[in-house]
Amino acid sequence: MITYFDKLDLELEVFMCGIVCAVSNRDISSILLEGLSRLEYRGYDSCGIALFDNKELNRIRSMKRVLDLKKQLIEYQFTGCIGLAHTRWATHGIPSYNNAHPHFSSNESGKPHIALVHNGIIENYEDFRDSLENIGYRFESQTDTEVLVHLLNHLYTGDIFDTVQNVMKLLKGSYAIAVFCSDEPDRIVGARQGAPLVVGVGEGENYLSSDSLAISDKVKEIIYLEDGEIVDLRRHCINVINKDGFLIEKLRHSAVNFVLTSELGKYRHYMQKEIFEQPMAVADTLHGLDSLSMEIFGRGSSKLFKTIDSVLIVACGTSYYAGMTAKYWIESLAKIRVDVEIASEYIYRDSVPNVNSLVLAISQSGETADTLSALKHAKSLGMKNTMSICNVSTSSIVRESLLNYITRAGIEIGVASTKAFITQLTALFLLSISLANSRGLLTNDQEIIFLKDLRHLPSSIGAVLSLEPFIMEWAEYFSSKENVLFLGRGRHYPIALEGALKMKEISYIHAEAYPAGELKHGPLALVTEHMPVVVVAPNDALLEKIKSNMQEVRARGGNLYVFADKYSKILNDSGIKVIHMPECYGILSPILYAIPLQLLSYHTALILGTDIDKPRNLAKSVTVE
Ligand code: F6R
Repeated sequence: MITYFDKLDLELEVFMCGIVCAVSNRDISSILLEGLSRLEYRGYDSCGIALFDNKELNRIRSMKRVLDLKKQLIEYQFTGCIGLAHTRWATHGIPSYNNAHPHFSSNESGKPHIALVHNGIIENYEDFRDSLENIGYRFESQTDTEVLVHLLNHLYTGDIFDTVQNVMKLLKGSYAIAVFCSDEPDRIVGARQGAPLVVGVGEGENYLSSDSLAISDKVKEIIYLEDGEIVDLRRHCINVINKDGFLIEKLRHSAVNFVLTSELGKYRHYMQKEIFEQPMAVADTLHGLDSLSMEIFGRGSSKLFKTIDSVLIVACGTSYYAGMTAKYWIESLAKIRVDVEIASEYIYRDSVPNVNSLVLAISQSGETADTLSALKHAKSLGMKNTMSICNVSTSSIVRESLLNYITRAGIEIGVASTKAFITQLTALFLLSISLANSRGLLTNDQEIIFLKDLRHLPSSIGAVLSLEPFIMEWAEYFSSKENVLFLGRGRHYPIALEGALKMKEISYIHAEAYPAGELKHGPLALVTEHMPVVVVAPNDALLEKIKSNMQEVRARGGNLYVFADKYSKILNDSGIKVIHMPECYGILSPILYAIPLQLLSYHTALILGTDIDKPRNLAKSVTVE
C-alpha cells in the first residue's frame, strides 16, 4: 500500500483520450488492454487496439467498454508483439465505431500500412483532407486522426521516424501520437506537442503511453517527453530527438507502481470514497508546514511576493471556483487586488496586462488545455511571475510555472472533483496568509492562530462528514426535483456555485447558484414551492443579509434547505429545513461548507442511479480546447 506522499511522486498525468502502446517479443494484447483499463475511469466513448502479428496488422474497435475488446480479441484470436491501443473521447466527429482509433492507412494492395492513435486536436487537418481525397485516399471517419494517418502514408519516406518528423512540421494543434508502419515492424514512433506522452522502459520491451499510470507496473523507468520531441521506440533501444531534430539524452525516472485504489472498501463509488478521504488529503497537503517563513511555494517566493501588486488567477470549472474563493481571502487578508479569470475567456479577450501581477494557475490535473494556454498567454503578455497550485507535480502547468504548490490529494478518480477542490482551497488559504505575511499584515499571534486552524481542518472535515445520514434524508426529496437553486454570499458564493456544479454534473438536475443579494434582480421569478433553495448560511458578517434573502424565498413559497452553524439561530420551521454544522469555522468556513454540498449531490445522484464516477459527456481532465 503506498502513502499519499508516494502518490505525489507518481507523476500521473491526466487527460481525456488514452494511448497505450508496446514493442515486445511476447504477445502484448492483454497487457495493452490492461493499460487501457487503468485509464477507463477518465471517461471515453469508444476504444480500440491494433496488433501486428509478424504478418499483418489487425484491428478491433468497440463502442462499448474495454472488456468488449477483450472478448473480441478472444473471439478473433488476434495476438501481436507490437501494438497500439486507445480510448477515445470524441472531439472531431461523433462517438462512433468508424471514428474510433486506431486509424489505418493502406498501401496500394489494400493492406493496412500505417496505424495511428492520437490524443488532442490537429487544428489544420482540413487543409489536407481535400487534397488527400483528390489523390485517392478514401475516408471512413470524420476525424482529424484519419487525415493524419493518410498524410503520413502519403509522405512516407521509407523511414517512419523521418516521416513523422517531416509531417509534424506541417501540423498545427495540440496532440500526442503513436505511429506504426508495417514495413518497419520493430518500432513505434511517438511524438508529443501539447498533450502528455511518456515512454516506459521495460526489460526487453518498451512502452509508450499518454499516462504513466497505464504502464507503471510493467516498466522500471519512465521518460517524460516534452513538446516537440519525437521518440523512436524499439525493443532494445529508445532514441529521442528534440524539436530542433537533435538526438538528446532524456532523464529516466524510477517508475512507481501505482496500484489503482480499486478497492472501494465500504464505499459505493470513488466519488464517495474521495469525499471521505478529504481529512487525509488536507492533512497531507499541509504536511511539514511549521511556519510561514518557509519558502513553501518555491525558491524565491518570499522575495517575489513582496514585489507583486496584484494576483491574476486563471482556472476552469471547480478550480475556477477555488480561485473565486481565494479572491475573498487574499483581498481581505493581504490587501492585494485579485482578478479571477475563466481560462478559456481570458485567452481570447483583449486584457490589460500588469507585469507586476502574480499569475496563478489552479488545476487539479495540471493538463487542462485552457488553463495551460491562459498561463502561456499571460507569459506572452510579459507577465513572468507565474505560479501554479496543482495536484500533479510533473504536469505541464507545473512545468510552465516559476513557483508551485503541489496539493497532495492523491489520485482523484471520480470525474467530479471533490478532494482536489478541498485541497486547492487549503493551499489557497495558505497562500493568502503567506501573502499577508510577506506584506507585514499578519502578526505573529495571527500566524499561529491561522496555522492552528489549518491543522485543525482534517478533524473538522471528519466531523462534517458525520452529517451524511442527515444529508441522505434530504437527497430523497432533491432526487424528485428538476431544478435546484443554490445561494451563498461573500466568500460562500463560490461554494454555492460549486454546489450547483456538483449537482448538475452527477445528478443531471438543473442547478443554478446566485449570490443571495442578486435574488431580487431576477432569479426570484423562478422561485415556487417546486424549487428547493439550498442556502449556505454560516454565522459571518453577512448572516443577517442572507436571512433577509431567505425571507424573500419563503414569501414566494420556496422551500429552504439551509446549512448553517449553531450560532446562526436559523432553526427548522415551516418551509425551512436546517442542518447545523458541528462547529463555527470563521474565515475557513468555505472549505467546510463545500463538503455537505458534495454529499447532497452524491446521494441525490445515487438515488437517481446515474453513472456517478463517469457522468455522461464528461471527462476527468480536458486537454483539448
Ligand atoms: C468539476 C470538475 C471540472 C474541473 C475542470 C478543471 O467537478 O472537475 O470542472 O475542475 O475541468 O480541471 P483541472 O482542475 O484539472 O484544471
